[in-house]
Amino acid sequence: MVEIWDNVIALALLKGYYEAGLIFIEVYIMKVAIIGTGYVGLPTGVGLAELGNEVFCVDKMEEKICALNAGELTLYEDGLEELFKKNVQNGRLTFTTNMAKAVIGADVVLLAVGTPPHPVTKEADLQYIYAAAEELAQYLDGYTVVATKSTVPVGTGDEIEAIVRKVNPQADVDVISLPEFLREGFAIHDFFHPDRIVVGANSKKACKVMQKLYAPFVGKTEFLWVKRKSSEAIKYASNAFLAMKIHYINEMADFCENSGADIHEVAKGMGMDSRIGSKFLNAGPGYGGSCFPKDTNAMAQMGRKYGVRLNLIETTIAKNDERKKEMAERVISKIKNNPQGKIAVLGLAFKGGTDDCRESPAMDILREMLEHSSNISVFDPKAMANAEKLLGARVTYAKDAYEACENAEIMVILTEWEDFKNLDLKRIRGLMKAHKIVDLRNMLQAEEVKKSGFEYSCIGMNS
Ligand code: UDX
Repeated sequence: MVEIWDNVIALALLKGYYEAGLIFIEVYIMKVAIIGTGYVGLPTGVGLAELGNEVFCVDKMEEKICALNAGELTLYEDGLEELFKKNVQNGRLTFTTNMAKAVIGADVVLLAVGTPPHPVTKEADLQYIYAAAEELAQYLDGYTVVATKSTVPVGTGDEIEAIVRKVNPQADVDVISLPEFLREGFAIHDFFHPDRIVVGANSKKACKVMQKLYAPFVGKTEFLWVKRKSSEAIKYASNAFLAMKIHYINEMADFCENSGADIHEVAKGMGMDSRIGSKFLNAGPGYGGSCFPKDTNAMAQMGRKYGVRLNLIETTIAKNDERKKEMAERVISKIKNNPQGKIAVLGLAFKGGTDDCRESPAMDILREMLEHSSNISVFDPKAMANAEKLLGARVTYAKDAYEACENAEIMVILTEWEDFKNLDLKRIRGLMKAHKIVDLRNMLQAEEVKKSGFEYSCIGMNS
């Protein structure tokens, strides 16, 4: 059991000395292997290379590694490209399919492979992470910390440790939990400005290695040293809480629509209470993405496994699914007199700032709309290619918002892209056949839209 207080005191001292200008924080250069080059692994790899470490990113997908080695990013993240290119050029960032090359001699191995939901049980599917643990174990040499970055159920660290020790009983290794809180679209920002760094370790030696890896953050970021299982639970509990917060504000938005209150004003007033906080109070069409839907389901399953019914989370999941259907109905009801009328859809990604369409509310709403209309034109600033993989020829793809709106009867905003705030409404009015806007992300100013001659409806206010 780690002596947590030793670490807390050591860090507090370091922080004090650092703030008093008495010491410089020494940056340790480590060899870090990262298994998985997705939305977690790739930005983390780039970030750790930028801090000066020698980073090897491993992936099984040959074409992905080829693209990355050819200097092509395989996903969009704001600010990623510049740091990616810089660190590939200076030799600190290498991409490989060769696990041995990455793991032999590594001080730290980060597991960042996917833990997708099981199609039936909705539990996190751990086959990839267990397979990676089994494969990497044979190459461990010298003391190594194997840290789980992927979101994994409580107790997975125990399983990974058992696998590693079985494959390589001689290995000098500690398995820890190092949950990732990066938001897609802001991953680089979040990497360099984390709210907290949570380390779940049952070994003091492993904590020391993490102190070294994250030395540049000492004095700037809160560190939390906890048991491995607590750390695993923190990730799920945080994501489930945020999902519930979004569900709550969406329910309040419905209430505002019926009662005559305005959700903007209500959210602002609530957010001014520091106990509530102003973040994650944007009402919308429901949450989506690769994390919240998956993690809330996995948390609910975990609760059942441990005999605790997590009613708030289960209700959040069910209501969030219902909400997307309700949102589609709102749009459909506006064109029921003209089912052949063209619908312009702006926004396909699960949120602004990313090209990711996984579990996107926009895609679910669009699929519902396609049951009633075959005349839909779509535009998203970054997610067109990913959307096309999912939607194929069922919609037409516009080159920009204006082309999508040509001859449309109704324009629908489904993703919170900042660009949509600055649309030229006069121009759009001239392009559209009828003048209805359904803004499910409250991106536009109601008064301005109405003044421009549109029938406008948004979320949480009786427009
Ligand atoms: C989330 C967590 O925020 C992050 O800490 C974790 O590491 C991964 O999961 P991410 O999935 O990138 O990050 O998206 P996030 O910004 O949290 O948004 C999730 C969903 O909630 C999106 O569909 C977004 O549009 C929606 N949302 C968010 C709202 O509807 N309202 C809000 O106020 C905030």
